[in-house]
Amino acid sequence: MLEIGCGTGRVLKPLLESGASVVGVDISHEMLALAHNKLASFCDSGALRLLNHNFVYSSIPERFDRVFVTFYTFNYLLSYENALSFLKNIYSSMNDGAVLLMDMFFPSIYHNPAIEGKWQQRYLNLGAKQIRLSDRRTMRGPMEKREQVFEEDGGRQEITTLRRFYDKNETARLLREAGFSSVKFTDVYDSTLFHQLELLEATDRGFLVMGRREAGGGEG
Ligand SMILES: C[S@@+](CC[C@H](N)C(=O)[O-])C[C@H]1O[C@@H](n2cnc3c(N)ncnc32)[C@H](O)[C@@H]1O
Repeated sequence: MLEIGCGTGRVLKPLLESGASVVGVDISHEMLALAHNKLASFCDSGALRLLNHNFVYSSIPERFDRVFVTFYTFNYLLSYENALSFLKNIYSSMNDGAVLLMDMFFPSIYHNPAIEGKWQQRYLNLGAKQIRLSDRRTMRGPMEKREQVFEEDGGRQEITTLRRFYDKNETARLLREAGFSSVKFTDVYDSTLFHQLELLEATDRGFLVMGRREAGGGEG
């Protein structure tokens, strides 16, 4: 199995615990280091291999039966061209009959237009710590700009992220153009089940998409 955009290994862990042999890929060395610390015993046993690689630019020589792209990793690909090249390179790293599963972000502004451009304040209680989070989202076409300011005991950190929304039509088009078939969607992807910081967001409008590399599918 392959997870692309594995971050700190949240999804790798249950995959490994189910007995799978997994490769975790990320473009961030910091994330890979955190995943390595968290899952060191699986690295030592050889069940987990962590790799710094960007599928926008190339595939990897190994072939996989299951590929996961989770928690909106795909939505950090900001152009159609990069998204297509990412999917084509994944397709090249899959066995015939293999399946790709991705979860897709849905901008909360589409769900609740009143929040566009407005700062929202809330407090996050993380153990003994209380953090004040100011959060503002704006849409430019399909692109969400999210500005977050975290404040705690006089300390302050600002983070700006861009995520591109791909609707189902565009997602299906991309997957088919990359060579995938049997493209299927599932609604109601509720990230509040695992991500506490998203509790006030409309996360339930995201969706899951699956594509298959058919036997004899050839190169994408
Ligand atoms: C929101 S995190 C998701 C982490 C993990 N999948 C999870 O569910 O907790 C997105 C991750 O994707 C990584 N990422 C972004 N673009 C990527 C790309 N082109 N290839 C591989 N990883 C990428 C980021 O470094 C980050 O670790």
